[in-house]
Amino acid sequence: MRRLSKQFGANQILNSVSFEVADGEFCILLGPSGCGKSTVLRLIAGLEQPTGGSIVIDGRPVDHLAPRDRDIAFVFQSYALYPHMTVFENLAFSLRLRGASTVEIESKVRDAARLLEIDALLGRRPQELSGGQRQRVALGRAIVRQPKIFLFDEPLSNLDAALRATMRLELARLHRRLGATIVYVTHDQAEALTLGDKIIVLHQGTIQQIGSASEIYHKPANISVARFVGSPQMNLLEGRMDENGKFFQSKGLRLDLSAVFERPLPRLAGHVLTLGIRAEDLHPTSDQQGWLNGEVELVEDLGSDRFVHLKCADLDLVARAGREVALHQGETLGFKVTPNQIHFFEDGRHIEP
Ligand SMILES: Nc1ncnc2c1ncn2[C@@H]1O[C@H](COP(=O)(O)OP(=O)(O)OP(=O)(O)O)[C@@H](O)[C@H]1O
Ligand SMILES: [Mg+2]
Repeated sequence: MRRLSKQFGANQILNSVSFEVADGEFCILLGPSGCGKSTVLRLIAGLEQPTGGSIVIDGRPVDHLAPRDRDIAFVFQSYALYPHMTVFENLAFSLRLRGASTVEIESKVRDAARLLEIDALLGRRPQELSGGQRQRVALGRAIVRQPKIFLFDEPLSNLDAALRATMRLELARLHRRLGATIVYVTHDQAEALTLGDKIIVLHQGTIQQIGSASEIYHKPANISVARFVGSPQMNLLEGRMDENGKFFQSKGLRLDLSAVFERPLPRLAGHVLTLGIRAEDLHPTSDQQGWLNGEVELVEDLGSDRFVHLKCADLDLVARAGREVALHQGETLGFKVTPNQIHFFEDGRHIEP
């Protein structure tokens, strides 16, 4: 899509949104509720007309094409299955509309059903299926059409956590097997990071960053991406570097950055900055005197991980602790940072130290 914008009345919903999706790519649109994700999909599908810009598929502008002529399959969050039809008929519906032969329909429906492991359910109606099974039927309906592009709008958001994790894996497998081109909308950053070849982070109708999962996570382009991607949220400390580029001053704390980077940071001397530290890069140490000292307020035990919420001067921070460390509420512990693992933001944008 090229410089796509969309206004509803006086409201600018999308601002000059441009991105490309390569053939066979799993592309994720990630962003908070209301940022314009579904609108982007609806524009691609032709269900909505852009106020400005253009959509090109295979080198051809499709702006003048009706939705049914764009060769795109849309999987909605609500599945939108036909309740009075069996699973078989739901899958066959678009093929029948297209005038496919009975033999072709039979073979395509059976193939899709096998792929999605719903062969045994072909005679049932949607209300006789679980959420995950309905989800698969909705996918199957898109697959039998063999479209150029699949559009998914938060397809897993109706499922419980366990099923969501299973379906996430299945989607990844399916993508690998079909080699399909997918644009997938979600506000769930875990889904985005595990599924996406390419992630596009959208905020208030503007693209914040385009990159691989690893780029988005390890090099967030700005504070809005840093805040949105990663759980728990990245620790963000506002303050100022001293004139020697050694210490960072933040709300009554004086943090020695030259210890974390094993050198002073003269380029940042005197700058007003926001420091970003991920919880997994901040750990308790057995040393009495840590890089910083904080009081344990709360320990969040997730089984595989433990997150320590600590109070440090006037700051609330989160750190990750291994299982071997004893943690007691109210106790003051030393914490250290993984060498070099601090992000710097100036005027909201990521900068190198
Ligand atoms: N038909 C419409 N008329 C007026 N405003 C609309 C219309 N459709 C969407 N909007 C507005 O456009 C903005 C973006 O909506 P959109 O549905 O694209 O968000 P989203 O990112 O998909 O959010 P969610 O995660 O909640 O689904 C919202 O502020 C919404 O209220
Ligand atoms: Mg939406």
